[in-house]
Amino acid sequence: MPAPVLTIDGPSGSGKGTIARRVASALGWQLLDSGALYRLVAVAAGRRGVDLDEEDAVAKVAADLEVWFASAADGSERIELDGEDVTALVRSEECGAKASIVAALPAVREALLERQRAFRRPPGLVADGRDMGTRVFPDAGLKVFLTASAEERARRRHKQLKDKGIDVSLAALSRDIGDRDRRDSERSVAPLKPADDARVLDSSGLSIEAVTQIVLDWVRNTPQHG
Ligand code: DC
Repeated sequence: MPAPVLTIDGPSGSGKGTIARRVASALGWQLLDSGALYRLVAVAAGRRGVDLDEEDAVAKVAADLEVWFASAADGSERIELDGEDVTALVRSEECGAKASIVAALPAVREALLERQRAFRRPPGLVADGRDMGTRVFPDAGLKVFLTASAEERARRRHKQLKDKGIDVSLAALSRDIGDRDRRDSERSVAPLKPADDARVLDSSGLSIEAVTQIVLDWVRNTPQHG
């Protein structure tokens, strides 16, 4: 029997990264942050002077990636590329924008497929990212699609930015999020949509603890996972 897998997907700002990390930590399972892999491909391509529109060359970068992840229950993390700490770089807005270009290249998605599957080890895996339940782990015992209203996601993002000393209008953020949702769900490569067998969880108005608890209860009630 392969190790159990829980996939968590959803739009940005739904809190899926935070929830995936908390749930993995509570269960003592491995964590796969697949978005970080796409971000790392963008960083590595930049360092090797590879243009993001050269699909085959970017896919080669993805296949050769030497990365190392560590994360703690308090949410802190460290990501290394070729032995160098690139955590802040990987989490920047600029890197997120480049990652979304890289993530639209089919050859890159293909190159990362086996690497992502290799994260599946006992006692189990929590896999965060949009095609986790549809393509990478279609046999996952539990698939969660975490969402929240566009207003709530804009409010969360606004608070995050404010905490970093960045002042942007809530209305503008709301608009951006709505636009991104439409782009993400309409694109042809790995569009953002729940797997047919996913359970949808709306986190609007719920605390991080409450959402974590709901997912943990679902895991305990999933026969392959109990
Ligand atoms: O979740 P994130 O912001 O770290 O993701 C970075 C980009 O990669 C974003 O454009 C979504 C995309 N992505 C993807 O296409 N497939 C995944 N499994 C994970 C992320």
